[in-house]
Amino acid sequence: MGETTVVEIFPGTLTDGFFAPQRFEGEVADCEITGTIPSDMDGMFVRVGGEFFYPPKFPNDAPLHSDGYISAFRFRNGRVSYKGRFIHTPRFDSNLEAGRNQFGLYRNPFTHDESVQGMNATVSNTAPTVHAGKLFSVKEDALPLEIDPVTLETIGFHDFNGGWKGQTFTAHPKFDPLTGDMYAFGYEATGLASDDIYFYRVDKHGTVAHEIRIKQQPYISLIHDFAVTQEHVIFPFACYYTDMEQLRAGKIHWMWDKTLPSMIGIMRRDGDGSDLRWFRGPERCMMHVFNAQTDGNTVTLLAPFYNGNFFPFFPNVDGSPWDPSKAQGFVRKYTFDLSSSHDGWTEETLFPAPIVDLGKVDHRFTTLPHRYAYSTMADQSRPFDTARAGEVGRKPVNTYARFDLAEGRMDTFFAGDVHSLQEVSFVPRRGSTEEGDGYLIGTASNLADLRTELVIVDAQRLEEMGRVYLPFRAATQVHGYWWDAEQLNLNEREGNA
Ligand SMILES: [Fe+2]
Repeated sequence: MGETTVVEIFPGTLTDGFFAPQRFEGEVADCEITGTIPSDMDGMFVRVGGEFFYPPKFPNDAPLHSDGYISAFRFRNGRVSYKGRFIHTPRFDSNLEAGRNQFGLYRNPFTHDESVQGMNATVSNTAPTVHAGKLFSVKEDALPLEIDPVTLETIGFHDFNGGWKGQTFTAHPKFDPLTGDMYAFGYEATGLASDDIYFYRVDKHGTVAHEIRIKQQPYISLIHDFAVTQEHVIFPFACYYTDMEQLRAGKIHWMWDKTLPSMIGIMRRDGDGSDLRWFRGPERCMMHVFNAQTDGNTVTLLAPFYNGNFFPFFPNVDGSPWDPSKAQGFVRKYTFDLSSSHDGWTEETLFPAPIVDLGKVDHRFTTLPHRYAYSTMADQSRPFDTARAGEVGRKPVNTYARFDLAEGRMDTFFAGDVHSLQEVSFVPRRGSTEEGDGYLIGTASNLADLRTELVIVDAQRLEEMGRVYLPFRAATQVHGYWWDAEQLNLNEREGNA
């Protein structure tokens, strides 16, 4: 290992080979399985990603602008069924009627056709989330879209009965395991390139219970993910910026300026925002987080931040070419001293292995002290069968990694020599309370057989338990999560005994 590997959310082009668009929706009533599906797995693994139903209007458009697609593996009684559907955003329906893509560059309405000016242009292609018995597809440029959890049909935008006042909603809401409350925010909350961040606590019944409005500074950047502790909220962003000038000039929404400071804002989660404090640091690409805690005046954040610009399609403002050697993520710990007067932080890289930044923890420990973090990586020491799978350049993401923060130990699971893994997710074992007791689950692209497999791994022994096979290559994902049947009342909705 040592070099970076482009992960599947943008494998160079999303129009070739395994990733060629299919315009396909479908179901498999009872999937082929090897091994054994754990009998306690009664629930659903839901994935959201996207593909361009119609080709992008501009060749330099971001793959992140692909049409949202939601799919679900439903587990029950040791068997697994599958469904996949496009998310019917206003954009998707309008394009389908027009028979072409009327939308220009990623999040730049000045590049869209006149026919769709003023239309909500979200592609809703980032993540599924569940709260108060409802399933949503979420992307940071719009409100959540409610999805029927049985049919996967799109119901419509959801504003929490009018309680959510912002125009945007993060793809990564956080859930307090002690209360069931959801914490979420939106940036550019009052419109394109606005500096407003609206933050909300939504109680376990789905009602907005607290709002904080703050200003982003010193520049408008993407805040893709955030962290919540039992006392604080943490907003990281870095180097990507936008403004109306570049949008009016017809450019893509984000440019990368490494001379801008990396910023991390921290405020009390139950306050009014007046205590918000911005810390500053050197160039990093701050996308996803693992978890965070508050201990007295010390806030710690565990996050797989990259060294530099991760996205080759968001150009460097200085005109320099994208540098893949800087698109490397690591398990990193950031420490903030709220009692000090300086505005810096300390950064520790806890493990030397480069990882994909799509990491997870046992979500029953979100906001709380925890021992394990999970991610994926491209282990270059593992085999790859180019005779069967074709030449792919560097070895793809092929390994799940479990990081034991207490012992400084990394354990891995290798998915196969013709496989490219998507994000790993954690499934708690039913009835357990011990951290890490459960399963790791995620899809693998079988590049030899051109079909998608779902891998189920014992999260403690890191040994494969079972594998589910689709007879086709499923649309790729960005994020996926597991929910037990009770969280979506699946058995009642499906009419099961
Ligand atoms: Fe994300």
